[in-house]
Amino acid sequence: MLKVDRLEMRFGTRLIQREVSFSVERGTIFAVMGGSGCGKSTLLRHLIGLLPPAAGRVEYDGVDYWASDEKTRTRLRAGFGMLFQSAALWSSMSLLENVCLPLEQHSPLGRAEREARAREVLAWVGLEAFAGYYPADISGGMKKRAGLARAIVAEAPLLFLDEPSAGLDPISSKRLDDLILDVRERTGAAVLMVSHELPSLFGIADDGIFLDADSKQPIGRGSPRELRDHAQHPTVRAFLRREEPPGPSAAAPNLAPASS
Ligand SMILES: Nc1ncnc2c1ncn2[C@@H]1O[C@H](COP(=O)(O)OP(=O)(O)OP(=O)(O)O)[C@@H](O)[C@H]1O
Ligand SMILES: [Mg+2]
Repeated sequence: MLKVDRLEMRFGTRLIQREVSFSVERGTIFAVMGGSGCGKSTLLRHLIGLLPPAAGRVEYDGVDYWASDEKTRTRLRAGFGMLFQSAALWSSMSLLENVCLPLEQHSPLGRAEREARAREVLAWVGLEAFAGYYPADISGGMKKRAGLARAIVAEAPLLFLDEPSAGLDPISSKRLDDLILDVRERTGAAVLMVSHELPSLFGIADDGIFLDADSKQPIGRGSPRELRDHAQHPTVRAFLRREEPPGPSAAAPNLAPASS
């Protein structure tokens, strides 16, 4: 469904990642892992058409996104649902209006039907009583849930979720994981999720890739559980086991006075 081939990511001359290759099949929950600043959100921007990569290919069902004309790109983007890291709700719109937006852009439904559908999805994420609220008047976790509602309302076959459960309490985080599993169950969507939350990674991701900020390339491929237990690269195992990473920075400082 999605195939990424030897993607290279740069800002100006600064290399962020190179040799990023993976594919995501229908119905899979795929995790993008790695330390802060390694390029996970940037990768998502390359995948959803917000930022062209420096090199490499992004293919949807065999169609090369960045080599396509604008009409094809628009058609492909209609198949994406996106939850940004910051939720990125429009502050001047109510939650209901925010959630209606993807339906206005991509569906033939009339206004009343759009609103009914948006209310249904808001209820599903537990926000039915807040449809008329503005983003400034709800909590961070509620914003994430409203963002998720907007990402899933059009039943897009491909969902991109940037840290859906970051900053949530463990119960809200578990609830969000359950919602993501439900969406997959109901629509068969593929989900590409950036996450640092270990319980979430081990609980719901079937497959994934680990990006390394130091070597600026992927250093692990596979499900988070497999990587935790069997990754070749010690950095990946340490990250997923919450251990001190290998390398000089992990060595105990030598406090002994230099011998003369
Ligand atoms: N618009 C930009 N211009 C220049 N550099 C950028 C831009 N956006 C991101 N970067 C740089 O690219 C690198 C990767 O950023 P990115 O936001 O993709 O990281 P991330 O893996 O999502 O981190 P986090 O886990 O903290 O969200 C960072 O070093 C960042 O400074
Ligand atoms: Mg990010």
